[in-house]
Amino acid sequence: MSAKIIVVMSPKGGVGKTTTSVNLATAISELNKSALLIDANLETPHVAIYYGFVGFKYSLEDVLNGRTEIENAIYMGDNPKFHILPSRVTRTEESRLPNKLININRYIEKIEDRYDFIIIDSRPSYEINFIKLIKNASSLIVSNPDITSIIEAKKLKEELENANINIIGLVINKVNNRIKDQMTEKETKDLMEIKNVWRIRDDKKVYNALKIGVPLVLSSPKSFAAKDITNLAKQLIKI
Ligand SMILES: Nc1ncnc2c1ncn2[C@@H]1O[C@H](COP(=O)(O)OP(=O)(O)O)[C@@H](O)[C@H]1O
Ligand SMILES: [Mg+2]
Repeated sequence: MSAKIIVVMSPKGGVGKTTTSVNLATAISELNKSALLIDANLETPHVAIYYGFVGFKYSLEDVLNGRTEIENAIYMGDNPKFHILPSRVTRTEESRLPNKLININRYIEKIEDRYDFIIIDSRPSYEINFIKLIKNASSLIVSNPDITSIIEAKKLKEELENANINIIGLVINKVNNRIKDQMTEKETKDLMEIKNVWRIRDDKKVYNALKIGVPLVLSSPKSFAAKDITNLAKQLIKI
């Protein structure tokens, strides 16, 4: 059985793609399903930082350039169900050449039957050129509860639909009920015309997780955002 491949996407930066990707992949593995997390944001790759994971020998760039086999750039977490394929945090020649990603599907195909899920973090883009490269990939759109973010997410959704790419749903991240002028879930759903909407609450613990290099769902599993992401993981396992 091939993995369910999910590309976490948004047109805007800073909305929470990496936070969602990292915690979703970790939560899935904690629910006893195998997950590979790929950092395909070659320009500003941050996934490894979320795990305090430094000093790895091979990265996605090495795989894309044929310097090593994909197996050598995949690392196992403390939980053997969790694997990570990082990109280099330091600037390299390849990070300026994201068109190297054009061959990514060739490598994913080699390992996809080893996992239940492959979660791919991506750079901000409303173009869908990247996801189109990956066979059978579904998209998970991330937005914040503000009008500009939602409008851009809607444009992305339309592009994905036009290209017949499966959309799992929308994640509204940084929801804070104390901010009364944030867009509500209903307003967002109506505007986006999307069925599956999940919210992740705004949560200060996110910063602590990043600081200590342990994903939120492990470092503060009872925090609001960790509960929300674990709930999302449970539902994605069911879909
Ligand atoms: N639910 C949340 N609550 C509070 N802060 C968050 C939340 N999600 C993300 N952040 C913070 O917002 C910033 C951007 O998040 P990030 O996941 O890096 O976004 P992106 O990958 O879309 O650029 C980071 O500083 C992150 O810690
Ligand atoms: Mg990011």
